[in-house]
Amino acid sequence: MYRILLFCLLFISSIYGQTYPSSFLSPEFHQNKRDLFRASMPQNSIVVLFSYPIRKRSNTINHHYHQNPNFYYLTGSEEPHSALLLFSSPIEIDGVMTNEVLFTQTRSAYGEQWDGLRMGVEGVKNDLGIEVAFEGKDFEKKLPNLEQFDKILMEPIPMDVMDDSKNAADLYSLIKTIENRIHKVSSTDKELDQYTFVDFEFVQAYLGKMREVKSDEEMILLKKAIAISVMGQIEVMKAMHPGMSEREIQGIHEFVFKKYGAEFEGYPSIIGGGSNGCVLHYVSNHDIPGKGDLVLMDVGAEYFNYTADITRTIPVNGRFSEEQKIIYELVLKAQNAAISKVEVGASFWLPHQTAQSVIAEGLMELGIITNPSEASYYFPHGSSHYIGLDVHDIGSYGPFKENSFITVEPGIYIPENSPCDQKWWGIAIRIEDDIWITADGPVNLSEDAPRKVEEIELLMEEGSTLDSFILPELDSLIK
Ligand code: GLY
Ligand code: MN
Ligand code: MN
Repeated sequence: MYRILLFCLLFISSIYGQTYPSSFLSPEFHQNKRDLFRASMPQNSIVVLFSYPIRKRSNTINHHYHQNPNFYYLTGSEEPHSALLLFSSPIEIDGVMTNEVLFTQTRSAYGEQWDGLRMGVEGVKNDLGIEVAFEGKDFEKKLPNLEQFDKILMEPIPMDVMDDSKNAADLYSLIKTIENRIHKVSSTDKELDQYTFVDFEFVQAYLGKMREVKSDEEMILLKKAIAISVMGQIEVMKAMHPGMSEREIQGIHEFVFKKYGAEFEGYPSIIGGGSNGCVLHYVSNHDIPGKGDLVLMDVGAEYFNYTADITRTIPVNGRFSEEQKIIYELVLKAQNAAISKVEVGASFWLPHQTAQSVIAEGLMELGIITNPSEASYYFPHGSSHYIGLDVHDIGSYGPFKENSFITVEPGIYIPENSPCDQKWWGIAIRIEDDIWITADGPVNLSEDAPRKVEEIELLMEEGSTLDSFILPELDSLIK
C-alpha cells in the first residue's frame, strides 16, 4: 500500500514538475495581433483557424511538432489539436459576450506523461490571456451557428491530417465538424453556396501584411536567431579541415545553435561540397567533400519560432583556387549591388533584378555564357524572401517596408558537364545574408560571418577547440 502511494506521489510530481516552454512573446503581443487582425475582418464574419497537424515519422513515432505560424502569431499556443475562432463583432457564447474563443486539448496525466505538459483551459485563460476557452471535445457543442455569419474566413484545409480514432477531439474531428457545418449552411441556403460563403484567401493575405513588418519583441528574437547562426558559420570556418564530412559540418552548426538555446533548425540544413552545392535544396549531406572543393553551407537557427537563413561558401582547405575566387567575387559583387537597393519604398524585385544583371554581365565577360538570357541556367533562383516565423515568411511582396527582414542570396552554380570551359565545373557558390530594412537603409545583420575571400581565408587559419575533439574510429567500437 505504502509503495503504491509512493508511486502515485512520484507520478503526480513528475507530471507537475514539468514546466511549459516560455515563448518570450507576451500574451499582450498576441492579443494585440488578434485585435489588429479583427479590425480588418469583413463585417459579420468569423475566422476559423486550426493548429498544424501532427505528422508521422515512423510507425508510432511522430515528427517533432511544429505549430502553424499564423496560429502561433495570433495565440502563442504551441499545442496541436486546437482551433481559434475570431468574430468581427462580439457574439454570445455560454452567456458571455466575446469576440474570440480558443479550443485546446484536455489535460490528461497519461497523455502528459508521454507527450509533455498541456496548458488546458485554465492555462489558455491565465497564460495566453484568452478569456473564453473550451476543450476541443466541446467544439461541436460550443461552435456558434454558422448561418448567422455572412463569411467564414479560413486557411486552406490541410490534406495530411491523421485520424486518431482514440481521440474524439483530435484535429481531424475538429476539421470534420467545420466541414459538416459549412455543408449544412450551403445546403440549406441555396443563395449561399460553399464558394461564396467560405473565403480561403483573406487570412493568408492579411496576416501576410501584418507579419511582414516585425514588432519590437519579434525583432529581438529574429536578431538572436541570426546572431546564433552567424556564430555557427564562424565556428565551422575555424574547425573546417579536409576529410570533414558534410554531416559533421552540419553537426557543428547545429551544436552551436543548441548551445545558444535555439530549439530547431529553421529548415533542413544544406551542406553541399563541390557540385552537391548545385542542388539547391541538397539536404542528404552524405558526402565527404574533396580537399580542393568548396562547401556551400545554408543553415539557419530557429530561436523561439523565429528563423535566420544564412549561407556561406568556403574552401575545404582554407584557400580559394583562382577559378573559385573569380566566381566567388562575382557573386559577392552581385550581392553587394543587390543589398544597396534594399530601401524603404523600393520594389521587392529590384535587388533580384540588380543581382541578375551583375551576374549576367560577369558570366559574359568570363565567356561562360554568350547571351545574357543564358544566365538563369547558372543562377536559377530568386534573390530574396522575407524571414520570420517561416523561413520563407509570408508578406505582401510589395514595396519594401521599414522593419521588414529579407534575405539577399544570389548564387552561381556550375554543374559538371555544363556548356562552358571545364575549369569552372563543380563550382557552386551562394552568399546569403539577412537584411533588416530601416528608414536609414539596409542593415546586414549577418555581416559578422566573414564574406570576403581574404576574411574567410584569414579566419580559416585560426584553430578551433574542436580540433582536439577526437573520437575513436567507429569500427574499433564494434563488439
Ligand atoms: N534556405 C532556403 C533558402 O535560402 O531559401
Ligand atoms: Mn538559405
Ligand atoms: Mn533563403
